[in-house]
Amino acid sequence: MDALLINNQAFQLFLTEAEIMARIAQLAQQLNADYSSRKPIFIAVLNGSFMFASDLLKAIQFDCEIQFVKVNSYQGMQSSGKVQELIGLNQNIANRPIIILEDIIDTGLTMDFLITDLLRYEPESLAVCSLLLKPDALKVKLQIDYVGFEVSNQFLVGYGLDYNGLARNLRQIYQAV
Ligand code: IMP
Ligand code: MG
Repeated sequence: MDALLINNQAFQLFLTEAEIMARIAQLAQQLNADYSSRKPIFIAVLNGSFMFASDLLKAIQFDCEIQFVKVNSYQGMQSSGKVQELIGLNQNIANRPIIILEDIIDTGLTMDFLITDLLRYEPESLAVCSLLLKPDALKVKLQIDYVGFEVSNQFLVGYGLDYNGLARNLRQIYQAV
């Protein structure tokens, strides 16, 4: 399908399943070269990264573990606004190489929070691997080690990414039109 309508919003095909899979194979190849015999822990950020994590890990050839976490955000009491909270981390990551898996980095605020929070546990190393990155939307300076696709400031859905909770199940990635 090249075009679709979700809650009255039109979307058109942006990345095919084959393009996504080919790029993930390249990312896995890079990781296979960088992490062999280091036994890292992948930390995948739910909900968006579930498909990416699944397909990427099938192409990983070193011993590794995976943990799924979530970043909850809610309006805090301070006027400074959103408070973020990491939930689901139930393993000691001290002195272990960590690779964070994300679906998309937009403003970068979520990733900035995650990096700061995870560093408190003193991992051996901390790398970020995101399928998608919107470089022009970044509001903070981040070191992002592995990026699948750099995209412009457009709204994307599919392959884990949602629009009002819908479209995460699609095999391809679509852009709002
Ligand atoms: P950030 O904190 O602004 O970088 O936002 C990161 C989160 O916002 C991602 O993990 C997604 O859940 C969501 N997000 C950002 N851009 C998009 C998009 O284009 N489509 C769907 N979700 C998005
Ligand atoms: Mg996400």
